[in-house]
Amino acid sequence: MESKECLSRLPQALLPWYAANRRELPWRQTREPYRIWLSEIMLQQTRVEAVKGYYARFLQALPTVEDLARCPDETLHKLWEGLGYYSRVRNLKKAAGIVVSEFGGVFPREYAQVLALPGIGEYTAGAICSIAFNQRTPAVDGNVLRVVSRLTDDPSPIDLPATKARVREALAEVYPEEAGTFTQALMELGATLCGPNWKPRCSECPCQEFCLGSLRGTAQSLPVKAPKKEKRQEDRTVFILSCAGQYALRRRPDTGLLAGLWEFPNVSGHLDTVRALAAVEEMGLRPAQLLREVSRKHIFTHIQWNLRGVYLEVAAAEGDFHWFTAEEIDTQAALPTAFRQFWEEIQNV
Ligand code: ADE
Repeated sequence: MESKECLSRLPQALLPWYAANRRELPWRQTREPYRIWLSEIMLQQTRVEAVKGYYARFLQALPTVEDLARCPDETLHKLWEGLGYYSRVRNLKKAAGIVVSEFGGVFPREYAQVLALPGIGEYTAGAICSIAFNQRTPAVDGNVLRVVSRLTDDPSPIDLPATKARVREALAEVYPEEAGTFTQALMELGATLCGPNWKPRCSECPCQEFCLGSLRGTAQSLPVKAPKKEKRQEDRTVFILSCAGQYALRRRPDTGLLAGLWEFPNVSGHLDTVRALAAVEEMGLRPAQLLREVSRKHIFTHIQWNLRGVYLEVAAAEGDFHWFTAEEIDTQAALPTAFRQFWEEIQNV
């Protein structure tokens, strides 16, 4: 059997399986492009279970693309707080502005127009056009690449753009009329039976009898990935400074990592206690009492932060900071997870 033949048998096998086995997910109850778009952006690099709550809250606060386009950044950051990859939400707002100003608030239907919006790549454009508009545009992400490389017993490294392009073209040729359902069925297979971190459950799979990876016993060793680049390691010391129930935060620069979000004051390197106290004095503050020190890490796409958190009471709420109450930190300031973990540590005492 040729790989082309396996792919051509996919729709017939997958569609009935999906109808009987699909998970009920909030974004599967709609075809509204705004909602599909939001779900696909949130689901990038993020687990379904983690997305559900954010998705509901976001749509409750911003039910239309117009609401998103005019939402203040601070509110938007708070809605996204903890989801990570904050450039996603900045691009969402930019794209919403374009949908409103250039398309009169109506989400464009043409693949090329969708692809041209900020933050929308080929995967997301394919997902929106197929799921919302039922066009035969494949959405090829890691899940789909894994399924197809197993199905066709293809050892090409899936992180190569050429592999992705080939898979997209091959899938486009077999896309059925029920395009949106097929896109979701493929994702579902990749998320449930043919997942990334466990043995594929071939005996339950509707594709077992024509899956070359299963027939030849190679499925579990696929997909092939190019070796990962080492992440850059960065040591930082983070200061959790308190004074009479208030805590010092400052805003991060408008560009770069976690742009425009709030942070606890922090400096490069791991400072020992003496140096840490001196650094706080240099910030124009007077250390009163050292409360404790903890070590944590935070992993971004390209960098790993090794963080040393120093909890200190200071004599007065001064210096070049915003002093927030605990309630304000919880309800107003968008504090990314790298820093919020130190905040949660205080709540647990
Ligand atoms: N992962 C990416 N997109 C998804 C979707 N629409 N449903 C479930 N998991 C997904």
